[in-house]
Formats: sequence, C-alpha cells, structure tokens
Amino acid sequence: MNVQWYPGHMTKARRQMQEDIKLIDLIIELVDARVPLSSRNPDIDELGKNKSRLILLNKADLADERQNEAWKEYFQKKGYFVVKVDSRSGSGMKMIQNVIQEACKEKIERDRRRGIKNRPIRAMVVGIPNVGKSTFINTFAGKACAKTGNKPGVTKGKQWIRLNKGVELLDTPGILWPKFEDQEVGIRLAYIGSIKDDVLNMEELSLSLIDYLRIKYQGVLEKRYGIPEEGTSLEVMEAIARARGCLKKGEELDYGKTAGILFDDFRSGRLGRITLEWVE
Ligand code: G4P
Repeated sequence: MNVQWYPGHMTKARRQMQEDIKLIDLIIELVDARVPLSSRNPDIDELGKNKSRLILLNKADLADERQNEAWKEYFQKKGYFVVKVDSRSGSGMKMIQNVIQEACKEKIERDRRRGIKNRPIRAMVVGIPNVGKSTFINTFAGKACAKTGNKPGVTKGKQWIRLNKGVELLDTPGILWPKFEDQEVGIRLAYIGSIKDDVLNMEELSLSLIDYLRIKYQGVLEKRYGIPEEGTSLEVMEAIARARGCLKKGEELDYGKTAGILFDDFRSGRLGRITLEWVE
C-alpha cells in the first residue's frame, strides 16, 4: 500500500468528511493501538467537535496490554468512549453495542423528549489508511447485514448498513490523512508498515527499532533470535543476521534480508505484543 497525500486529495477527503459528518450522530475513530497518537489525525477533533466519539484501539492484539489500558484511560480522560478491539478475530466487538448506546445517550434522550421514537443512531468509521477500517466494518457488521438507503442507480445516495434496530453505519469509511510533518510520526508509521517499505531505508529503521526494543522491551530480541542484546545496535543486527543465516555470496552479511525478517516478526506479533508509543 502506498500512502501518498497530495493537497488535492486532502481537500477532497476533508470536504467529503465534512459532508458525511453532518449526517451522523457518532464518529467511530480507529487508531492503531501500537501507535495511538501517530496513527490519528487530530484534525478530526475539530471536524467532529459536535459529535459523540468512540475511539477504537484497534490491533490491540499486537500491542502491550498494560499500554492498551493506559491509552484507554488517556482517551477516556479526554471525554471519549474507548474500546480495545481486534477487528481480525472479532474480540471486543460485543462491548461496542453497549458503548454506542452510552455514547449517544444524550441524542436518544433528546429524541425521546421531542417524541421521536426509534430513530436509529447513525455512525461512521474514520481513520488513516491501513488502520483496519474495512476489516472492522466487515467484522462488526457481519456478512448478513442489510444495506439500507437509496437504491443504487436511482439516486446517488448514501448506503447505510443496518447493524440492528438501533444503529446504522455508513458503509464507506472516512479516510484521514496521517500527519507526516513530524518525522517521528513518519518513522512510527513506517515501523507498523503503513508507509511503503521500498521508499524507506529499512536497514536504518532496523537499527532504531532494535534500540527501542532494547530499552522498552528488554529480552524480546534475545528470546526470539537467541542472541545477546549487548553492544551497539549494529552489532545486535549482525548477530540477528548470523542467527538467521542472512548471508550474501561469501561471508558478507545481508542487512536487507535481516531487516525484512525483523520487521516481519515485529508486524506479525512474533516478537510479542509491543507498543511503540507509551503514555507519558
Ligand atoms: P483500512 O481499511 O483502514 O485501510 O485497513 P484494512 O481493514 O485493509 O486492514 C489493514 C491490515 O490490518 C490488514 O492486514 C488487516 O487484516 C489488518 N488488521 C485489521 N485489524 C486488525 C486487528 O485488529 N489485528 C490485527 N492483528 N490485524 C488487523 P493485511 O496484511 O493488509 O491483510 P491480510 O493479511 O489480513 O489479508
């Protein structure tokens, strides 16, 4: 996947989102639990300031459980509703229904006072590319869900997925653009695979990932590769290369291949559950 944002795309995406937000009661914002700040665009706070917000810490299965809890508290303190989910397995989905009702309590109450009965809560999913929006919609809505709204071909209206009597979901998620201006944000998004690898220097990224892991998750490299974690990060990378037989012709180490193995292991969770941004 190639994350490339041009001003034209951004303006179009933002305009679309502004229009869509007018139609809904609740914003379901997906963030990646491994990088809960770098994977969100705070512009959504302004765009959606009058709407209830449910933040989903998605890919919670890949992140450190202690940090998941800490981030949940962090966002709750800011006034958002938060649920930890694994959209791939479906873990956490059951909780969401109740939390949606809770998050939209005021709207339900307002409707009741005005004598409006059974008007469903309308929600839309937003998030940066690759955060898991489609996976979430598929898992949450399930296969048997009914699409409502205008018939295609008749009017170009919005398609809503009826989740149950009380909730409808806009079938197309809103794409937020990542905040690339901060280099650290770019690096963290690269770690999790949200930026195309071939435009990056994966070998350099490996050295900084090794440093981070040695500080915050001491022992994971040793456990995975059976190597000592001492020395410079380059020495550790070389030890991983030797342990995994990453050699070019002759005895020269293959750093590119080593970087590939390291990032594959990290992104698939084989190094363990790791959070790259900790609550301060
Ligand atoms: P997007 O619509 O926001 O762009 O994201 P999408 O759903 O396409 O998900 C991006 C990748 O993240 C997919 O992996 C998807 O399976 C994975 N993913 C989504 N949610 C979760 C989660 O909660 N936990 C984990 N571990 N992974 C998740 P992929 O490698 O691109 O595809 P595939 O190998 O799963 O087919």
